[in-house]
Amino acid sequence: MMSIAARSGALSPYMQATKQTVKSLVSPGAQHLVPAAAPGGIRLAHTDIKIPDFTDYRRPEVLNPNKSSQESSEERRLFSYLVTGATTVVGVYTAKTVVSQFVSSMSASADVLALSKIEVKLSDIPEGKNMTFKWRGKPLFVRHRTEKEIAAEEAVNISELRDPQHDKERVQNPSWVIVLGVCTHLGCVPIANAGDYGGYYCPCHGSHYDASGRIRKGPAPLNLEVPYYEFLSEDTVMVG
Ligand code: FES
Repeated sequence: MMSIAARSGALSPYMQATKQTVKSLVSPGAQHLVPAAAPGGIRLAHTDIKIPDFTDYRRPEVLNPNKSSQESSEERRLFSYLVTGATTVVGVYTAKTVVSQFVSSMSASADVLALSKIEVKLSDIPEGKNMTFKWRGKPLFVRHRTEKEIAAEEAVNISELRDPQHDKERVQNPSWVIVLGVCTHLGCVPIANAGDYGGYYCPCHGSHYDASGRIRKGPAPLNLEVPYYEFLSEDTVMVG
């Protein structure tokens, strides 16, 4: 049987280090013989590990290992630009769709919009008369003016008015005055065909409006409001 000393020339570094450690344990006085490099610091090569092949996943431009990646940078950059551009377009379109759906969900529904408009049949209102309708919870005055009223309102000097507005600015058709029946003082409902000017009179604090709905006397600061309206035909007007 060969001694340890006789075989030490054929030992691997790991075994030599192990031998030195065993010696130091058997002979405590020989601890100075332990090598500086501990056995744990030695790494052995494992040449049997298989390296996975990623060739199928690599771009054709970088398959050649002998080719510099800089040579294929143009093609790869173009691909990156295309992907980025397509992603941006899809992202912007998605954001636009989400935002427009969110905003449209907050707008009034069709039934609410239908209630916000009112159609008035004008032939039901005799000349010289005023009819009151309910529109968006407020009174709406539709007045069929006479030729005399039209001439009188058009002749008013607007420099004398508190809220200067010519009659032509307040009507689309001189025969029809369409205004909200809400006094601009504190919101009472004026009385039609009353007051000093023959238009509307608010009994709450005594405001007088003319036949164009303009304030002529009393505490109200502004003319009666003219809502948006359009004539659908000669006989029909739609307000709202
Ligand atoms: S509310 Fe009409 S005059 Fe005051």
